[in-house]
Amino acid sequence: MNNRFTQRGEASRQEHHIVRIWCSGNIGGFQPLVAGSTPAIRTSYHVHSERMPEPNPHDTASFGKVVWTEEHRDWENADFTSLKDGTAFPKEFMWGVATASHQIEGGNTNNWSAFEPRSKSQQLSGEACDHWNRRTQDVGLIKDLGVSHYRFSIEWSRVEPQQGEWNQDALQWYSDLVDDLLARGIQPMATLHHFTQPLWWDEMGGFEREENITHWVQFSIKMFELLSDRVEWWCTINEPAVYASMGYVLGEFPPGVRSFKKTRLVSMNLMRAHARCYRTLKAMENGNRCQIGLVKNINLFDPYRRWNPLHWMQTKLLDGMFNRCWLKGLATGRFKPPSGLFSKRIDGLKGSSDFIGVNYYTHLLTTPFMPTKVEIDPLIRPWEQRTDFRYPMYAVGLRRAFDMVRNLNLPIIVTENGVADDDDDMRPEHIRRHLQITAEAIADGLDVRGFYHWSLMDNFEWAEGYDQRFGLYHVDFTTKERTLKDSGKEYAAIVKAHSMPQLVVMAGGLGTRLGSITEKHPKSLIEVNGNPILRHILDWARSQGCMHALVLTGHHGEQFEGMTHPGMCLTFHREDEPLGTGGALWNARELLEERFILVWGDDLHPIDFQPLVMQHISENAPLTMTVTESHSSSNLEHDGNVLLAYDKRTKDTSKLNGYEAGTSVIEKSTLLKHGKDGKWSWEETAYPALAGQAAVHIDNTKFWDMGTPEGLASLEEFLNETTL
Ligand code: GAL
Repeated sequence: MNNRFTQRGEASRQEHHIVRIWCSGNIGGFQPLVAGSTPAIRTSYHVHSERMPEPNPHDTASFGKVVWTEEHRDWENADFTSLKDGTAFPKEFMWGVATASHQIEGGNTNNWSAFEPRSKSQQLSGEACDHWNRRTQDVGLIKDLGVSHYRFSIEWSRVEPQQGEWNQDALQWYSDLVDDLLARGIQPMATLHHFTQPLWWDEMGGFEREENITHWVQFSIKMFELLSDRVEWWCTINEPAVYASMGYVLGEFPPGVRSFKKTRLVSMNLMRAHARCYRTLKAMENGNRCQIGLVKNINLFDPYRRWNPLHWMQTKLLDGMFNRCWLKGLATGRFKPPSGLFSKRIDGLKGSSDFIGVNYYTHLLTTPFMPTKVEIDPLIRPWEQRTDFRYPMYAVGLRRAFDMVRNLNLPIIVTENGVADDDDDMRPEHIRRHLQITAEAIADGLDVRGFYHWSLMDNFEWAEGYDQRFGLYHVDFTTKERTLKDSGKEYAAIVKAHSMPQLVVMAGGLGTRLGSITEKHPKSLIEVNGNPILRHILDWARSQGCMHALVLTGHHGEQFEGMTHPGMCLTFHREDEPLGTGGALWNARELLEERFILVWGDDLHPIDFQPLVMQHISENAPLTMTVTESHSSSNLEHDGNVLLAYDKRTKDTSKLNGYEAGTSVIEKSTLLKHGKDGKWSWEETAYPALAGQAAVHIDNTKFWDMGTPEGLASLEEFLNETTL
């Protein structure tokens, strides 16, 4: 902790302007309107670093009172090591990037394109990033970042350009997008409403009329029918509070209205629409296996002067209208829209989210003056750094946002977080800080499942046009060229440090001891408990965070044709003749990544991959093998950490003290060093050669070898009784 922050009265050494509270600019990036200025008054307030108290789980009405404390941190001496060494996040963490249709696709005709000539920047979205014509390339960009998830929105105006007319090409395009993503091992997350809607619906009154909701729900049904077999994650409405306040209070988003009455109406209908959409989709085929949630922007409000009751009152008011009434609505089913006096029950609203999407950008310092037209910079604390949007970078606020939503008792996903930063000098640090805060929240027991960086690439930033750049990729809006920024490299490096290496499955072996069943069929394809054992192996690896698998199918490779696996990108490699385990690996060397996890296609070995990989990395080993000391026989000698000898054929087992249990981590350079053409056995060649060098990872978890009829039977029994 920097003492500077703990001294009372140090906060306002500068002259400040008084913020007039309603805001301009995207509230996703909220920008205050200001009128007039006043000399600074010394502010005393509290800065602390200790853990926040546990909120009361039954306290659904107040939503984490702890968030009222404005905590700051001295980041200068922050230690980000765990982000880089891959220990900050759990292996199943969802690493993502996010976009929205209108901001990237180009060529859209909707409420926004109609509004653009009247918008603050008056810039037209026009061709945007031309993503509509560059889909495949852009999916490649996502893949290059190494992320596992991608959040995009579906442009209703393309899919249903006229009421009841479905555009087959557009439907096909989104379906192809999903296939492209899955083929690269990236899980799609689809948003059904991200600020835009078709003009025909807008002209009917959009969300101003309750009876219009049904049309949007019809569109949602259509998309769910089309994609829910492949898309597990769905967001209903993106940032309803932003849509309502920007469109109907500040007039900066379409329809550009300033009316509290309409704000209440639209807010009410947004919540009704969300609830109806959720209930309808949940009742459909695939509804239960899909995760459907609302995306809420949490914009924190803090009293500018913490001793001033008027600033507090204003803070409470804005926080209530922008954040809490929406969360309370979700939790209780009764919604009091912003500026409303009474709450109303909304059918199906209570509990209508399988997760809560949190979009977080900043906090705003509030004072009780109402807006005027003069716009200057929002207030910030003296040590805070302004983003290009002029609001401050305030990473600790992300933790406060989590605390605000935690009493919903839902998994939390950061569906957006990012920064407008033209020259990319702030974004790498922005990423580190927000990820650090997220990792700490997880360590403190909060159920944060994923993080989607906003945004994949620079794009059309609504009322700000192309002036605010949020991308990990720079986009040249003339040539449409995309270039990875340093921040993109930073994000990719953190993701990579937390990602499982490629999985390689030796799946071509035929069973000599299983009789006629596997004379011509690889053992890995024998069904156990309703599925080929290979599927059980892939399921396990997926649960351990592996997204990419290379399956070495041997010389009966045609039997694997057309095989796909949920959540994984599979590559197959076959040989024309039997090559043994070593020859198969050697032959596929072009397809191997620098480091890979090798498993046997006829063994199920349900171990925790993470400690194995961590040990491998920390010991800088050429190969790390898993060794069990609980097997009935032994085939190697080890001294706890290092392999001393390997011999699976010896009769003299007196010195042997372990058994190679299957899963190993291998550097590709190790294969290149020990490999050769022709037929050879990996384990019998490489392991003895690596004596004294290969690391040993002790894990006594039982492995299930189905190479014999008895083995097959006991694996069947095991899978019958256990859910992996
Ligand atoms: C969010 C919005 C995004 C993006 C972002 C950056 O509110 O959902 O579309 O514009 O803000 O300001």
